[in-house]
Amino acid sequence: MSVNLFNAVEFSHLLLKKTLKPGDKALDATAGNGYDTKFLAELVGAEGKVFSFDIQKEAVNNTQKLLQTADLEKNVKIIKASHAELDSYLEDKINAAIFNLGYLPGGDKKIITRAKSTVKALKKTIKLIENDGIVVLVIYSGHPGGDDERDAVLKFVADLDYKKYNVLNYKFLNQPGPPPQVVAVKKRI
Ligand SMILES: C[S@@+](CC[C@H](N)C(=O)[O-])C[C@H]1O[C@@H](n2cnc3c(N)ncnc32)[C@H](O)[C@@H]1O
Repeated sequence: MSVNLFNAVEFSHLLLKKTLKPGDKALDATAGNGYDTKFLAELVGAEGKVFSFDIQKEAVNNTQKLLQTADLEKNVKIIKASHAELDSYLEDKINAAIFNLGYLPGGDKKIITRAKSTVKALKKTIKLIENDGIVVLVIYSGHPGGDDERDAVLKFVADLDYKKYNVLNYKFLNQPGPPPQVVAVKKRI
């Protein structure tokens, strides 16, 4: 029997799947083409709620279409705004959040998530996370600006109080180029 070493996206989904249950609330901080939002919507089910942010119209449209095709749009609120302003839209606590950083696959590669707004959003998200909840980031750093963002995220999470949060950094060490990595922040009970 062999064990699977999950790639970054697979590992991020595994963490979300282990955390979320029907009726929960979840955040997708970067909707993009909607794959993570759809995954969250499936996990929380009809009794749950997903909040999904993106600054690009194209991403909002792609996410809307994907959800409609899967008949999942009812329990998702798609918000065309920066995740840095998420506290203007979300009041309730959430059980899990995903940040899939970088640019929209198939879209404009110059529109990227950026260190300052990502860390601002991350701080706000951590305040909203329920005990035993998780914030998962998939970080791509191969594009211009990506390494600054990665370093800012790593610095912020490394300084979180270990008595309140468990912080994980998951990445393959021997891949060409900077490999995508997963950072997870779990709020301890
Ligand atoms: C790598 S893609 C997300 C992929 C997506 N989760 C999926 O499943 O397809 C990153 C997205 O972040 C969005 N983005 C960039 N800056 C943002 C911001 N400040 N707030 C919210 N979304 C942002 C981009 O428009 C892009 O669509």
